Amino acid sequence: MKKEKQKQVIHPIYTVAMDGPVGAGKSTVAEAVAKRLNILHLDTGAMYRCLALYLIRKGVEISDEKAVMAELSGFELSISYVNGRQINRVGGEDVGALIRTPEVGMGASRVSAYAGVREYLLKTQREMAKGQSLLLDGRDIGTVVLPDANVKIYITAKPEVRAKRRYDENRQKGIDDSYEKVLEDLIKRDKQDTERPVAPLKQAEDAILVDTSEMSFNEVVDCIADKCALAVEKLIPRERNWKYVVMRIGAFFVDHICAKVTILHGERLSSAQPAIIVANHLSMADPFLIGGRCRYNIRFLGKEELYKNPIIGAFLRGLESIPVKRHKTDMASMRACVGALKDGRVLGIFPEGTRHSKGMLQEAETGTAMIALRSKVPVIPVLIERKYRWFTHNYVYVGTPLEYADICEKGISTEGAEEFMERLREKYPDMKKRLDKERA
Ligand code: DC
Repeated sequence: MKKEKQKQVIHPIYTVAMDGPVGAGKSTVAEAVAKRLNILHLDTGAMYRCLALYLIRKGVEISDEKAVMAELSGFELSISYVNGRQINRVGGEDVGALIRTPEVGMGASRVSAYAGVREYLLKTQREMAKGQSLLLDGRDIGTVVLPDANVKIYITAKPEVRAKRRYDENRQKGIDDSYEKVLEDLIKRDKQDTERPVAPLKQAEDAILVDTSEMSFNEVVDCIADKCALAVEKLIPRERNWKYVVMRIGAFFVDHICAKVTILHGERLSSAQPAIIVANHLSMADPFLIGGRCRYNIRFLGKEELYKNPIIGAFLRGLESIPVKRHKTDMASMRACVGALKDGRVLGIFPEGTRHSKGMLQEAETGTAMIALRSKVPVIPVLIERKYRWFTHNYVYVGTPLEYADICEKGISTEGAEEFMERLREKYPDMKKRLDKERA
């Protein structure tokens, strides 16, 4: 009788609440974090802005709560996504940059103080967070809209830093308010947002505070995406299969008894499904280490020769490893990899095809890039730096993923695949630098 296929663990559905004051960089950070986590992002501020634009255009007095409430029934807001980007439509019209002016921002802040307006928009916000993973950014997401969100982030920065950022953004958009005016507006809006009686802006008790005053944009994105990945990792049950259990015991042995291994940012290994995990290759123990930390059962690629040994071959097949002919185009293996990714699996590849102790990713064949480009999945790079000598302390560093959207300009072509591999290799010196910094 045919053995029943093992039930596969599916990436969990979760919500991320990101709140913070004006100019903290929330929307841009939220967009980048959502892209990294491969989930949708709902900019709830845009919803208030759409309403403000609608009212301004209709000539409604925004300070008149009754008049504002009377207009809600005619306000048709629709939110859709194109390539992961939120498109806001009012009465069918894409309002794009029209809602990003200081006048609309101030109007949004004022209408957002009305309980009826908040209740009206809250329904849509909660509805969108049902049945799909979603990152919402706003002022009251962690406190009112989604008090049970899986991850809560409160992002802020000093008023002067936020004003400077907003001032620079305005200049790029051709808005030439002085820095002093921007700072004054910002302080006024902070006051309006934090002192309003309904759903005021405040940090939820269980929110993680991220002060971005001294951080670069990439540092903020990495920091928040890692916090989310760590929280989400806890929601992922381990996939079961006794051969993987053996593998994890092997990892434990290497990690705790043979040589102490610290995996930095191991949470990134389980942050996406499907995904490809790529690593430089030092020893036969490498798959044990990576496989032991990832919540998903990784399907590693193994050189065809390994399967000739009946015991090793049987073990590798049990791990659903995929045999590959090295140094030539192996279409069967390529198809198996693309198929596995289509089924939502995580692949593990040592693209250099051989072991070495140079510490970085060396020149490698482009097969990995072809698989990634065809499957449109994130590629998570891993730097393995250790000697596996008894009682030594060694490190593995998991890098931030290469996203398909950032590497697909040249399409599925030899040129595109070569550039992909180059971008992948370029990540390693930076990962090494970060590893040295974090270990210190
Ligand atoms: O984030 P933003 O600047 O686009 O938001 C515009 C206004 O909307 C802001 O001043 C406060 C309000 N807002 C809110 O009250 N609650 C939210 N969840 C999002 C925005």
